[in-house]
Amino acid sequence: LHTLPRVKTDVAVIGAGIAGLYTALQASEYADVVLISKKGLDDSNTRWAQGGIAAVTAKSDSPALHRQDTLIAGAGLCSYAAVEVLVHEGPERLKELIAYGTKFDKDAQGRYELTKEGAHSKRRILHAHGDATGAEIVRALSARVRDQANITVLENHFAIDVVTQDGECVGVIVQNQEGGLFFLESNATVLATGGAGQLYRYTTNPDIATADGIAMAYRAGARIKDVEFIQFHPTALYYPGAPRFLISEAVRGEGAILRNTSGERFMEKYHPQKELAPRDVVARAIVSEMEKTHSSYVYLDITHESEELIKHRFPTIYRFCLQYGLDMVTDWIPVAPACHYIMGGVQTDLNGETSTRRLFACGEVSCTGVHGANRLASNSLSEAVVFGHRIVRRIRELTPLPEVRPFAAVEPKRTSRSVDTREQRVRLQKLMLRHVGLKRHEKGLRKALDELERMQQFCYGTYSDRESFEFLNLLNTAVLTTRAALLREESRGGHYRIDFPNKDDLIWRKHIIQSIGEGVR
Ligand code: SIN
Repeated sequence: LHTLPRVKTDVAVIGAGIAGLYTALQASEYADVVLISKKGLDDSNTRWAQGGIAAVTAKSDSPALHRQDTLIAGAGLCSYAAVEVLVHEGPERLKELIAYGTKFDKDAQGRYELTKEGAHSKRRILHAHGDATGAEIVRALSARVRDQANITVLENHFAIDVVTQDGECVGVIVQNQEGGLFFLESNATVLATGGAGQLYRYTTNPDIATADGIAMAYRAGARIKDVEFIQFHPTALYYPGAPRFLISEAVRGEGAILRNTSGERFMEKYHPQKELAPRDVVARAIVSEMEKTHSSYVYLDITHESEELIKHRFPTIYRFCLQYGLDMVTDWIPVAPACHYIMGGVQTDLNGETSTRRLFACGEVSCTGVHGANRLASNSLSEAVVFGHRIVRRIRELTPLPEVRPFAAVEPKRTSRSVDTREQRVRLQKLMLRHVGLKRHEKGLRKALDELERMQQFCYGTYSDRESFEFLNLLNTAVLTTRAALLREESRGGHYRIDFPNKDDLIWRKHIIQSIGEGVR
């Protein structure tokens, strides 16, 4: 045990995606901010967002329609109040993103181009550089963050755990690039650590999406909600040697159709909205067709659209596929579902505050109630800015931090047992894909939970470097997800049980909340 060096700030923000960058910028108008990024400022899940950002801007659209689409996609588990906040405050926040320098695509008349994605009743999604929306947002916001004198950016720093005292969060333990630890004391701590895509072997998310915030918040005693709901994106590239690169739903929004390997269009058999049905429906339909045709993929076909449209709207996807000899203009693109987004996360109120006072969660790590059991496409970028704004408003009301008593930290130790965390991560990812993926059943879930709990016993106390911290975070979160998936004996949104294939509103129109203090509720 030892006492850590101490650094003080007003607001600690952990994570450098849209949620972290935006919240840091907003907070910096009133306070000193330290922004911690485990890689660089341009390395985040946001960086890879393609489709865009959903907010009502067109005259033919309305917050009521956006609300309705969000609630339908959420399959009965959205918080109505949180959705109201999103659809009414989204347009204002969008203006701020633009004021911060984000350049969304405009048509020849200077109006914002709007695209459509699954389960949206209107064109309401703004995009940038065709299909590089996230990269543009990160470019604009990170430039601002770097210019802001009262934001200290700590890149290649890893937040290990938040620290609580008398039920309040008082800061975070951080590991610097050289492996040294320090305690960052803060009046408010914002988890903006992103999602959990690395729970699965196949994911559209980058390597860094290791559920750090969910695991940290859980260990600190905060409530974790709805983590059984995992969204698989229907169309990730499936090609030997290529990563599971996202092929945006906007490609279907602009007219692409899905065909099985016999060349048959199949979505009309599954849902009246066909290729633009909610994501969970499309993903499961694809898996059914893959099973039927004994294939590992289906095709996405946009060859009937003009070369000009394809290259103008999807330059990133077009270039990426071409590297593998796939030309979207003339070829059908092989695709399969891959893990994309976790709907649940750290439970927050409408101000983004978790059940632990002074600890906030923003973006994918949070569960604000906006997404329910299934997120409507492109709602996540808007959610991050809408709730980031509210978080800063709440932080301004906080009383000063009480005296933080000295505490002893356990020094991470090099293990005598050799645990290959890379290998363990792959083992976990395969287990999750097989038993806690798109289609689940009791036997598989029990097997996964037993195995994960065994891994957990073996791993405790054996971590010291970043890879093993990340692995521990994945493992903690995998247990939470699997436990909740086993408990929920119904199918809804991003949770499908072969043994309980129907939605059960009578018993299960409720949330599963897990915390160390209160157990599972
Ligand atoms: C996509 O472009 O298909 C992804 C958009 C999203 O997940 O919101």
